[in-house]
Amino acid sequence: MGAGIIGIGRYLPERVVTNFDLEKMMDTSDEWIRTRTGIEERRIAPDDIDTSDMAYFAAAKALESANISAADIDLILVATVTPDRPFPSVACMLQERLGATKAAALDISAACAGFIYGMVTAKQFIDNGAYRYILVVGVEKLSKIVNWNDRNTAVLFGDGAGAVVMAPVSEGRGILSFELGADGTGGKHLYQDEYVMMNGREVFKFAVRQMGESCINVLEKAGLSKQDVDFLIPHQANIRIVEAARQRLELPEDKMSTTVRKYGNTSAASIPISIVEELEAGKIKDDDLIIMVGFGGGLTWGAIALRWGR
Ligand SMILES: CC(C)(COP(=O)(O)OP(=O)(O)OC[C@H]1O[C@@H](n2cnc3c(N)ncnc32)[C@H](O)[C@@H]1OP(=O)(O)O)[C@@H](O)C(=O)NCCC(=O)NCCS
Repeated sequence: MGAGIIGIGRYLPERVVTNFDLEKMMDTSDEWIRTRTGIEERRIAPDDIDTSDMAYFAAAKALESANISAADIDLILVATVTPDRPFPSVACMLQERLGATKAAALDISAACAGFIYGMVTAKQFIDNGAYRYILVVGVEKLSKIVNWNDRNTAVLFGDGAGAVVMAPVSEGRGILSFELGADGTGGKHLYQDEYVMMNGREVFKFAVRQMGESCINVLEKAGLSKQDVDFLIPHQANIRIVEAARQRLELPEDKMSTTVRKYGNTSAASIPISIVEELEAGKIKDDDLIIMVGFGGGLTWGAIALRWGR
């Protein structure tokens, strides 16, 4: 048996903020944002919808799609750097709201690589037989920690949530290999003080190098090659960064998710949001080899090679 994804769900706030809207708020332009980042618009949550609300909306859909009830869940892992408050964790708030009474619950802090860290953590409990159903959520309300007067960062981010239910799946399906990594010496390049602070050029260089390396590493660990990859879901930070990963894998354009155009960088939420988008678009089918790869503040990174299907 492998550990794979048996249910998915996502939530995106209704309010769309376009680059033209941002032009009215700060000294920027649609042309600058599109050419430097690929982003055209992003979703911003209203004041009365916090991180745990978005997590709940996405998680409820994932449970429905997995056809299990909240009482079946053994563990809830929520990847986020924008919890409602330092504690209780978003995972505990979600446990109460779902009524997942038997589930253990904790948040994972690995910034934009958090969802990959969450899936890899879930895999360990499934592989060793301790737990059967694990809810993994990536959720961020970045709009509350972005300085709306800082054009260097404000144009990049968006709000949203994605969730998956992980469980044992058929032999040969699920997570085939993974890589996790961290380099605390790079923490100074991307962090939160009061607001998100970023050295864009340093993060860019790190991301381009690490995304490509990690994709190749998980393929090698799984005994597979670039030619075997059916679809790439990179963390949606910036179109130029994800393009570099695509070129490293020599994949055609239509074999990679580029939801960053519509949703901006939603940090830990971007990979699960993209999974839902691409499944609904019919881009992912049973037995496809999917590579997911992320990087973020910490610095952190992670990648997974996954054979889709239950
Ligand atoms: C942030 C980023 C898009 C900037 O792109 P870039 O190509 O490095 O930008 P450049 O160096 O060409 O341009 C910087 C200039 O644009 C200006 N600028 C920055 N943001 C701007 C904006 N929103 N609108 C207009 N001008 C802007 C800067 O003030 C700077 O001007 P200066 O040269 O007069 O000082 C890029 O570095 C990046 O994507 N980095 C990674 C960020 C990331 O992914 N973070 C999240 C990781 S999870």
